[in-house]
Amino acid sequence: MSDTQTTVRTRVHELRTLIEHHNYRYYVLDHPEISDAEYDRLMEELHALERQYPELITKDSPTQRVGAVLLAAPGQIQHVPPMLSLDKASGEEELCDFDRSVRKELGIVQRLEYAAEPKLDGLAVSLRYENGTLIHSATRGDGHVGEDITHNARAITAIPLRLRGNNWPMVLEVRGEVYMPRAGFEAFNRRAREHGERIFVNPRNAAAGSLRQLDPRSTDRPPLTMACYGVGRVEGMQLPMRHDVVMALLFEWGLRISPNLTIVSGVEGCLAYYREMLGRRADLGYDIDGVVFKVNDLALQQRLGSVSRAPRWAVAYKFPAPEEMTIVEKIEIQVGRTGALTPVARLRPVFLDGVTVSNATLHNEDELRRKDVRMGDTVIVRRAGDVIPEIVTVIQERRPPETVPFVFPTHCPICGALVSCVEGEAIVRCSGGLFCPAQRIAVLRHFASRRALDIVGLGDKLIEQLVEKEMARTVADLYHLTTAQLTDLERMGEKSARNLVEALTRSKATTLPRFLYALGIREVGETTAQALARHFGDLAAIMAADLETLQRVPDVGPVVAREVVTFFQQAHNREVVNLLRAAGVTWPPMKQQKITSTLAGKTFVLTGTLATMTRNEASARLRALGAKVANSVSSKTDYVVVGTAAGAKLDKARALDIPLVTEEELTTLFEKQVI
Ligand code: IVH
Repeated sequence: MSDTQTTVRTRVHELRTLIEHHNYRYYVLDHPEISDAEYDRLMEELHALERQYPELITKDSPTQRVGAVLLAAPGQIQHVPPMLSLDKASGEEELCDFDRSVRKELGIVQRLEYAAEPKLDGLAVSLRYENGTLIHSATRGDGHVGEDITHNARAITAIPLRLRGNNWPMVLEVRGEVYMPRAGFEAFNRRAREHGERIFVNPRNAAAGSLRQLDPRSTDRPPLTMACYGVGRVEGMQLPMRHDVVMALLFEWGLRISPNLTIVSGVEGCLAYYREMLGRRADLGYDIDGVVFKVNDLALQQRLGSVSRAPRWAVAYKFPAPEEMTIVEKIEIQVGRTGALTPVARLRPVFLDGVTVSNATLHNEDELRRKDVRMGDTVIVRRAGDVIPEIVTVIQERRPPETVPFVFPTHCPICGALVSCVEGEAIVRCSGGLFCPAQRIAVLRHFASRRALDIVGLGDKLIEQLVEKEMARTVADLYHLTTAQLTDLERMGEKSARNLVEALTRSKATTLPRFLYALGIREVGETTAQALARHFGDLAAIMAADLETLQRVPDVGPVVAREVVTFFQQAHNREVVNLLRAAGVTWPPMKQQKITSTLAGKTFVLTGTLATMTRNEASARLRALGAKVANSVSSKTDYVVVGTAAGAKLDKARALDIPLVTEEELTTLFEKQVI
């Protein structure tokens, strides 16, 4: 045997042992130690090796599990036809490959019609109805034989014990996913925590872990539900030959189906659906890990058939893994612009949801204590959309023995000043103010950032040096830096020094909103800075404004007003402003616009669902522009904003001939009105 073969053999053995171990943790104990993504990787590696070295395949390899014939023992139910699994496509290319091979097999050149559905993240379950009555329910098991869970299924209110109507087949076996909606999951975990019971990492595990505890006699049942996605055995009736029509029939018979099932045309339609669901994923109220596409025509499905464990007429297009497992290498405290101490976990880099993640926020001391994250811990990290990755949970089983809980510092780790905590606030702050280098660095960084004064070439490393060498104590000092001084710094040639001085000079010509934003007043983001600038027209007026005057600005409430007043009350802040102006920072005069927009005084009514904002947000922005927002349409209404699934208000608007505004038009309106 060659060396390579021995190495491969060892790895294959290792993989099998690992996979079996994780199967046991997952399926038997309902207590996985690794993320699904990592499990899939192990399986894939084993599959790949076995494909390359078929002689190494053994009957008991985990890859051979599906397809094995097992006899149904007591408490088990045989699945005829077997409950198949789905092939995966990762990436657009693989999806196109799937579509191409399906059409090639069928000899079809035109676009195919696909049924598109979310891929629910729960457990596959089958329900058998005889003469309309639920007689059996089983888990998927290995696809051929599953566990009898009839008793538990009866406790799920979404599963009818009797089908509605009377035109159902004598035998109808439906298949679908049992899952726990997110809201139910939160409540379920909260309760478990209160009772000192085990809490679950995610809704999927909670569904798996609680399914067998379900008891129809109990009033306190885990919040599980089910959505059907297919049929198994049917006797005594020929069902329609289209997947969507069959699903509609199931719905008529009282079974739940996904509200997001839709028909799409060709691979283009599939991709559009995928993107839509990816965008809506966070708002669905339940977890989905991808979407499923099925050839809608059942005659075509039959022609395509299946290979080993998966049908050739369906494909799962999975979303990028939203959770991953990694190791906390260090826990550090970051000091922000406002002095807030934020614990941050430095992670062993991990690829998650399309990006490499190496930091996760731990938010604050309370959160850190609650999650008890320690250096050396193995953790599950999650990244949803643009938000900073966070640690979902610590995997206790993997905690090294010598770890100790993280002790939150009593002094700023940067300047040594005492930290303070405001009553009722979770945030701990450094009391060093601008004497604290960390805060100085953060202030400078914000000032120079693209959306503030946009000082090109003034990067983090440079800022750190400037603070360390005391060359920039305040932002105003930046404008007195010379090429000679800058050339002395590390990694600074004469040319880049000259470029930076030029960039600094260029940045002096700015706008009032940018300048205000750059000052880094707490609670004053870009939008508020714009609103303030527009309302007052010049800086002196803002600096002189009192709480009451400030609150006349759209969107400025008591909290923002207080921060603005406090900021300009500080002598050193006023001095910095003066120094900046003296150094030549200037902006063109602004036209004061105390709600003189064309929307002022106009009455709007909103109807239907908006895609890019909530109705409340739209109303708030309209009001900020001086418009009125009413609840019902009347002859006094000037415009009706129409979202999707608009109802009676739309009819009334049409009847009264009131101008309609689409969401797109509304967005353009906002863009035009708010600089
Ligand atoms: S169809 C023959 N549709 O995904 C096709 N499965 O990876 C069998 N799943 O075991 C499945 N949502 O538990 C189908 N809309 C959906 C689904 C779905 C979730 C699960 C199901 C299956 C697994 C396959």
